[in-house]
Amino acid sequence: MRQLIIIGASGHGKVVADCAAKNGYENIIFLDDDKNVTHCGKYKVVGRSKEAARMSGDVIVAIGNANFRRKIQTSIAENRLSTLIHPEAVIGDDVEIGVGSIVMAGVVINSGSRIGKGVIVNTSSSIDHDCMIGDFVHVAVGAHLAGSVLVDDNSWIGAGAIINNNLHVCSSCMIGAGAVVVKNIEEEGTYVGVPAKRIMNKC
Ligand SMILES: CC(C)(COP(=O)(O)OP(=O)(O)OC[C@H]1O[C@@H](n2cnc3c(N)ncnc32)[C@H](O)[C@@H]1OP(=O)(O)O)[C@@H](O)C(=O)NCCC(=O)NCCS
Repeated sequence: MRQLIIIGASGHGKVVADCAAKNGYENIIFLDDDKNVTHCGKYKVVGRSKEAARMSGDVIVAIGNANFRRKIQTSIAENRLSTLIHPEAVIGDDVEIGVGSIVMAGVVINSGSRIGKGVIVNTSSSIDHDCMIGDFVHVAVGAHLAGSVLVDDNSWIGAGAIINNNLHVCSSCMIGAGAVVVKNIEEEGTYVGVPAKRIMNKC
């Protein structure tokens, strides 16, 4: 029986579990560092994240915060990491998806794109041709990246945001929900609005 250990029993964890079940995992269990959390949807929380090392089964980290996701994922041997692609996602030719990444339902990733490790490509978002998405990026629900967009490690593209084609978003940026990015973003920070403007120098 295929077992998957999901680290992080949040709402995001529930969606990851749905996707895992559609990928053929029959035994799904959760680990979470909050000892007060006992369940994630219908699944049990059976221990803390550090216990993954001594348990058998594949592992995926379902934590939204990029720094925590990176820290936990890099503590786990790569050959134990699962990569989940929902059967209702559309993946073009010559697309590479790194270990520990998850591609949710309704996503389209077009030809020639590269998706890093530990990336969340969330429900109904799209990544057009020849995009380069760094490690531990989150493309939130309904966000759209036009062709040849480059997003560096750890950045978060908020729900419904749009990044125009050929643009670069540097690492550790937060692009707010509904923002439209029309110029390269070369400084870390939080950007909101149409066109997107920096409102904070950190994310
Ligand atoms: C951008 C964001 C991170 C800012 O959150 P925050 O640091 O808590 O900032 P605040 O809510 O204090 O907002 C600061 C200012 O920016 C404005 N603002 C915040 N988010 C905005 C957005 N998405 N678009 C336009 N303006 C926004 C606020 O109205 C506020 O303006 P004011 O100072 O004139 O009142 C957050 O609002 C956001 O958009 N998060 C993305 C959520 C998301 O996509 N989730 C996806 C889950 S899959």
